[in-house]
Amino acid sequence: MPKTGKQVTHGGSDSRIAIAIMAAGKGTRLKSKHPKVLHEVGGKPLLAHVIAAAAKVLPAQHVYAIIGYEAPRVREAVGHTGVNFILQEKQRGTGHALMVAREALQSYNTVIVLSGDAPLIQPRTIERLRDFHFAQAPAMTILTARLHDPTGYGRVIRKSASSAEVRAIVEEKSATPAQKKIHEINSGFYAFSVERLYGFIDQLGTDNAHGEFYLTDMAAVFRKAKQRVVAVETHDPHEILGGNTRIELTEIDQHLRLAKCLALMAAGVTVYYPQTCVIDADVEVANDTVIEPFVQLLGTTRIGSDCRIKSYSVIRNSVIDDGVVLLPGCVIDDSQVKAGAVLGPYSRLRPGCEIGEAAHVGNFVEIKKTRLGRRSKANHLTYLGDSEIGEGVNVGAGTITCNYDGAQKYKTIIEDGVFVGSDTTLVAPVRVGKGAYIGAASCITDDVPADSLALGRARQTVKEGWVKEKNAQRAGKPK
Ligand code: UD1
Ligand code: CA
Repeated sequence: MPKTGKQVTHGGSDSRIAIAIMAAGKGTRLKSKHPKVLHEVGGKPLLAHVIAAAAKVLPAQHVYAIIGYEAPRVREAVGHTGVNFILQEKQRGTGHALMVAREALQSYNTVIVLSGDAPLIQPRTIERLRDFHFAQAPAMTILTARLHDPTGYGRVIRKSASSAEVRAIVEEKSATPAQKKIHEINSGFYAFSVERLYGFIDQLGTDNAHGEFYLTDMAAVFRKAKQRVVAVETHDPHEILGGNTRIELTEIDQHLRLAKCLALMAAGVTVYYPQTCVIDADVEVANDTVIEPFVQLLGTTRIGSDCRIKSYSVIRNSVIDDGVVLLPGCVIDDSQVKAGAVLGPYSRLRPGCEIGEAAHVGNFVEIKKTRLGRRSKANHLTYLGDSEIGEGVNVGAGTITCNYDGAQKYKTIIEDGVFVGSDTTLVAPVRVGKGAYIGAASCITDDVPADSLALGRARQTVKEGWVKEKNAQRAGKPK
């Protein structure tokens, strides 16, 4: 069977294949101002999932997304995938979407049609639809599913129970009570002979509940024209679920999240209470890492092996190397944590941090755009921004880099082996040389040379016996 859209031969005819993804609809049932296909499940827009599946079957240059409602936003969100776009300016139904695609698809022999709002579709199922279509060579092949509750879906009327041939698809709104009892539904995924689709598509009408051109009516159109229409049933009915309502969106999201956790577990990662974890589709985790309940791993996050990610940590677009321990409640964005580091509880890495090997970042420490060197420690109640911190540095409790003067940001540089006493403020730009010591509670406004002690605080004065004297004075005073 052909694996790509290149010139391939099947049954004597050459088969140029395209995939068209219908993604122009507004999504009225979501009651949203945002286009339906940009609503997210598993951390990605619905349409991005469908494109990803399509692009595993055909190169992106043969994939066409039919867009319309808020088209510029949709194009912007998925443009990087390299697929083509077809504009359906007015959305007059799924049949109309394919009418608009006529010119773009004309040079192909076969088109597989997918729904931009059904993100669980798997490449192997698209291939199965394609292969069945090639084997049967009909005008139209419909991918069907048997659902326990078929409510809302178009029902597939086969010629007879055992026949692959289909007489019609009846939408829920026009179905008779007897037809509503049919559990085999139209998935909204089809394969068509391009020549025959466009030979007959103009026979679609709009005499239905929505006054739209239904692509589903092609089944009846073809049948009237004595063109074969066949159905192939999917093995996994989950794959065809569409996100038409908020409830359906969250159901699909849960399905994807759980599947992701199960896939990670199959690959050697322990995920405790996977129902509570939110792990995006593209996240990678290496084996022997343990993920505790209520963890979120988002975007392009990559986690090495032998890590322990404790509860309530939220990590986005970050790289965590092997053997890192994240104690509860860490929030990490666009940063890198090197092997063996320990963070938390409640550490926050804002974008642009690099935490060195075996470094320690403790509770209520906020770090931004800062490199913290190997084996350095910032364990308590600290803010480090726009800083370069060397190896083996001890940053005492309550240290603050004053990196901002109200207009500009400045750098703090702390070289290897420095000891920063507690409650130090470092007024940037400032550099503390190798091996220097800063006394506790210092305000450091000038550079500190290597190996020196810097004290930047008022000297302590002690008045011995002061309290006693004061009390004696008070006692002697008449009331
Ligand atoms: C459709 C099918 C139904 C099937 C179901 C499976 C029709 C008439 N009905 O119903 O038989 O059981 O899918 O999920 O096709 N779209 C456009 N342009 C338009 C209208 C829609 O691109 O003018 C897009 C939508 O953005 C969506 C897809 O087509 O991605 C399907 O449209 P939708 O309105 O969700 O159809 P359903 O009511 O789900
Ligand atoms: Ca739908």
